[in-house]
Amino acid sequence: MFTSKKDIVGIDVGSSAVKIVSLHESRGTFQLQSIGIMPLNPETIVDNTIMDSTAIVDAILNLLGALKIKSKRVATSVSGHSVIIRKISLPIMTDSELESSIQWEAEQYIPFDISEVNIDFQILGPDPADPSQMNVMLVAAKKDFVDDHTALFTESGLDPVVMDIDCFAVENMFDYNYGFVDDEVVALIDLGASATSVSVLRGDASIFTRDIQTGGNLLSEELQKRLGLSSGDAERAKLGERSIADVDPDSIDEILNEAIDNLAQEVQRSLDFFAATSSDDSISKVYLTGGVSNSAKVREALEERLGIPAERVDPFRNVKIKDKEFDAEYLDAIGPMFSVAAGLAMRKVGDK
Ligand SMILES: Nc1ncnc2c1ncn2[C@@H]1O[C@H](COP(=O)(O)OP(=O)(O)OP(=O)(O)O)[C@@H](O)[C@H]1O
Ligand SMILES: [Mg+2]
Repeated sequence: MFTSKKDIVGIDVGSSAVKIVSLHESRGTFQLQSIGIMPLNPETIVDNTIMDSTAIVDAILNLLGALKIKSKRVATSVSGHSVIIRKISLPIMTDSELESSIQWEAEQYIPFDISEVNIDFQILGPDPADPSQMNVMLVAAKKDFVDDHTALFTESGLDPVVMDIDCFAVENMFDYNYGFVDDEVVALIDLGASATSVSVLRGDASIFTRDIQTGGNLLSEELQKRLGLSSGDAERAKLGERSIADVDPDSIDEILNEAIDNLAQEVQRSLDFFAATSSDDSISKVYLTGGVSNSAKVREALEERLGIPAERVDPFRNVKIKDKEFDAEYLDAIGPMFSVAAGLAMRKVGDK
């Protein structure tokens, strides 16, 4: 099929898998062109550090080949402790004034040497609490970290034209599929394998973000540790398999419930911190993305702990899908894992 030059391939290198989405845009509507996932060995990315770049490059090239994607233009994203996102308040100034002073302004908010980071910002508007000030979203990412990530794509012969942040890609996907409602405060929670990222939005403005360094791996690691399971069996038990030799199904459930509650508690802590630092915003709804959002038990545990309804997000809700080309049931099952990749595929060159 004809692919417009404008279309960019979204590639999300997650710690558990590489995920690719390509969309075709026509008159403001996206249509799904291709979608694919390639699992990564758990040793490939550890603590957010790329340990085996060759394995990732191979996964990217294999996927692109299998999906017959020709475009070299890629949107990708980073996240984790090498990325700092902070909402700060500064005296009112223009975009270009801030451009020339941002290094200096940012210094006090960034726990790394300023010469070691790439800095980006977005002026959000006047500070409602003080009209002489404005709110600014400050994003700083360690250069080394971004360079390592970029190298995956250049080594794959690709051109990474958009370098995004995971949670902003999820927000972008959410905007297209669900839309923002003025002044409504919602939380988007991406439940990944090794990390969980929380972002709170009022209308279309991001007002709080936080990364929790734990995710779905916690559940399988607990099963492995406490029942002496292999990593394969632990993963299967996590996904619902109960007939594992010599293992009592009830003990699987017990361990899983406990680990799920711990995960939900971590999310609750983040949102408690948000509530304590923001004046009057109460979250009306929680939207869940990432593979772990497939677990009904996780959704229930979060609803119970937070006391807020939680919904699993469909990243293709408003994306046109040809029934003949894609199986709707399969797409629904894997959808949440593609939230970042879908948000990336919706990017345009020049977006930040
Ligand atoms: N039904 C399910 N129940 C529980 N966990 C699930 C289910 N389906 C998928 N998962 C888990 O979701 C995780 C994969 O999700 P995702 O693809 O969002 O992670 P990732 O992007 O690779 O990780 P990260 O963002 O942390 O680097 C795995 O830990 C997988 O076991
Ligand atoms: Mg992820």
